[in-house]
Amino acid sequence: MAKPKTQFVCQNCGTVHNRWAGKCDGCGEWNTIVEEDPMGGIGSGPGKVPKKGRAVALTTLSGETEHAPRVHTGISELDRATGGGFVRGSAVLIGGDPGIGKSTLLMQAAAALARQGHKIIYVSGEEAVAQVRLRAQRLDAADTDVLLAAETNVEDILATIAEGKRPDLVIIDSIQTLWSDTADAAPGTVTQVRTGVQAMIRFAKQTGAAMVLVGHVTKEGQIAGPRVVEHMVDAVLYFEGDRGHHYRILRTVKNRFGPTDEIGVFEMSDKGLREVTNPSELFLGERNSKSPGAAVFAGMEGTRPVLVEVQALVAPTSLGTPRRAVVGWDSSRLSMILAVLEAHCGVRLGQHDVYLNVAGGYRISEPAADLAVASALVSSLANVPLPADFVYFGEISLSGAVRPVSQTAQRLKEAEKLGFAGAMLPASSAEMPKGGNGRWTKIEDLPDLVSRIAG
Ligand code: TYD
Ligand code: MG
Repeated sequence: MAKPKTQFVCQNCGTVHNRWAGKCDGCGEWNTIVEEDPMGGIGSGPGKVPKKGRAVALTTLSGETEHAPRVHTGISELDRATGGGFVRGSAVLIGGDPGIGKSTLLMQAAAALARQGHKIIYVSGEEAVAQVRLRAQRLDAADTDVLLAAETNVEDILATIAEGKRPDLVIIDSIQTLWSDTADAAPGTVTQVRTGVQAMIRFAKQTGAAMVLVGHVTKEGQIAGPRVVEHMVDAVLYFEGDRGHHYRILRTVKNRFGPTDEIGVFEMSDKGLREVTNPSELFLGERNSKSPGAAVFAGMEGTRPVLVEVQALVAPTSLGTPRRAVVGWDSSRLSMILAVLEAHCGVRLGQHDVYLNVAGGYRISEPAADLAVASALVSSLANVPLPADFVYFGEISLSGAVRPVSQTAQRLKEAEKLGFAGAMLPASSAEMPKGGNGRWTKIEDLPDLVSRIAG
């Protein structure tokens, strides 16, 4: 048999290269390519005799699988993000920066489930059992009968959790610490992580346990990131947040059993994560509505409206090339709006620095925020504060037209609920909420908006 050639695998995205390179073509990251043995993973054992499987007719399955059987944690923000709880027999990946609170969230979930009588095993590869216990004490969870294990070897973990007699939920914290005897690669490499995750997924499918895998997002690419196993698992959630702020968002990016645009919002306290059932109140908490350059955007996250303040500062520059700094929004989208303002409204910002910030460290991904951003910019440039009780939403096209966005009614309803009396929204918006005493100002295009704000 010819000796298998070694291959070079990007630890960030898993792209396989024939030779080593400084930069990965797949994801553009530097210094992430590591030499690995291609046969080091699954299937490297002695020749396996094929076993006949069982094919079943689709029609005979009705009733059996109408609803994916789920374990509800009772932590509503977590259940919302997973689409109603963890699905038995499936694997969920929870990714996030180190220190963001993944272990805290999962310990709280484990304790909540154990209190309901579920059998939970928490396998920690990063911390000793005593450390995990200390955290549990801080979270008032030390009195629950969650089973703890500190293991990193895949075969040992499988033996441990199999002994646990049909656990309902298994938590592996984290996939980067997993290593298997069958994979001939250093711990933390793509081969090891994939082999370990594969074994855990197989365990979940065979026993019907829900498997929760924790994965650290790595910037340096020294160890394999969660992206290399995203395609293997049934659901992928990312735990996000700004270190400087207390709130955390659990965002669903893939879900075979539920919607993918839901978020769960939490606040980190000294006693663990607290659910935030009304995120708008949190994001609008420290608002200074009298200063120019602040506009409240009525956004949507999945089925839930989220109101957040967009702040702009436009100031004359002393530099040859003016600065453009954006926090919480897409910087190319800002460039587009500046270009549209210049081309269609004669608003010249070539001699101005522009700073844009989304309050609370929140990240907006919707183009519907265009109108709020434009309003904040114009307000700052003209030094005119916007009415404090207005919200803004609408997409701006390159022609300067303000285009309608989805879920107008929900956005306006949330705004009314939080005491906003008016809104500036696209003129062609279809569904307006019934009743209410709101003042809805319909905006045709960007020049219309500028003349209303700057007079
Ligand atoms: P952790 O869950 O260990 O993060 P991860 O598993 O994602 O690496 O959380 C780490 C941070 O959370 C740490 O900086 C301390 C903070 N923390 C609190 O503020 N309150 C708490 O009750 C706990 C348990 C942690
Ligand atoms: Mg941790």
